[in-house]
Amino acid sequence: MDTELQQVIRDFKAYLEQEQRKGLKAVPLSTRIINPGKKTTAADPANSKTLEQLHQQFANCQNCPLGSTRNNFVFGEGNAQARLMFIGEGPGFDEDQTGRPFIGKAGQLLTKAIETTINLKREEVYIGNIVKCHPMKDPGQPALRGNDRPPTAEEMAACLQIITRQIEIIKPDIICLLGRTAAQAILRSNAGIHELRNKFHTLNFAGKDIELIATVHPASCLYDPANKKYVWEDFKKIRDFLKKV
Ligand code: URA
Repeated sequence: MDTELQQVIRDFKAYLEQEQRKGLKAVPLSTRIINPGKKTTAADPANSKTLEQLHQQFANCQNCPLGSTRNNFVFGEGNAQARLMFIGEGPGFDEDQTGRPFIGKAGQLLTKAIETTINLKREEVYIGNIVKCHPMKDPGQPALRGNDRPPTAEEMAACLQIITRQIEIIKPDIICLLGRTAAQAILRSNAGIHELRNKFHTLNFAGKDIELIATVHPASCLYDPANKKYVWEDFKKIRDFLKKV
């Protein structure tokens, strides 16, 4: 069988499984399903000048396999003119259910740390992720909590163009990379999080030099509260940086 036909069958199977999870019991024989995966045309993110346009451009994205298993595309949220931007790894269960980044337990910890250590409100910053759809260990069980896995290299490569454009549009003064996946992906490094954190890195996005600082992922503080000291230390650096600039 040629690969194009195989892909059509895979897309159609994924579509039916998605509809089944939403409650579909049977497909009437007369139903014609056209373009089941709503494939995005290979559009250039640079064509989008605003976050709203970029969101619309990729809202139905099927550029990687996560497109067929997500409940919601989690674009990111917050102040489009934020001086401070956070980038995490990818949506988890709560984020996939709601379409909002960092609103589960790790997100609540992040929000509290932003407010108490950096003295900013969550609405004043921008929060996004490397991948926009929930990577699941078992995609057949989207209603199962704890069914999370890190994104694959293929998933990250497909999605990186979106967060890059988000950075270019927002033009923050500083970006905080939450956890090893985000830090390695943006800083293009294989180093561990403890090697990358607690210091400033500078990268140029569309002509603007932006400072970046990595810290441990807030979820790691839930497993081991001793990790909170790293978040506090790195967030204080961010607070002091924002006071100076
Ligand atoms: N973890 C992440 O990396 N991102 C989220 O949005 C939620 C949890």
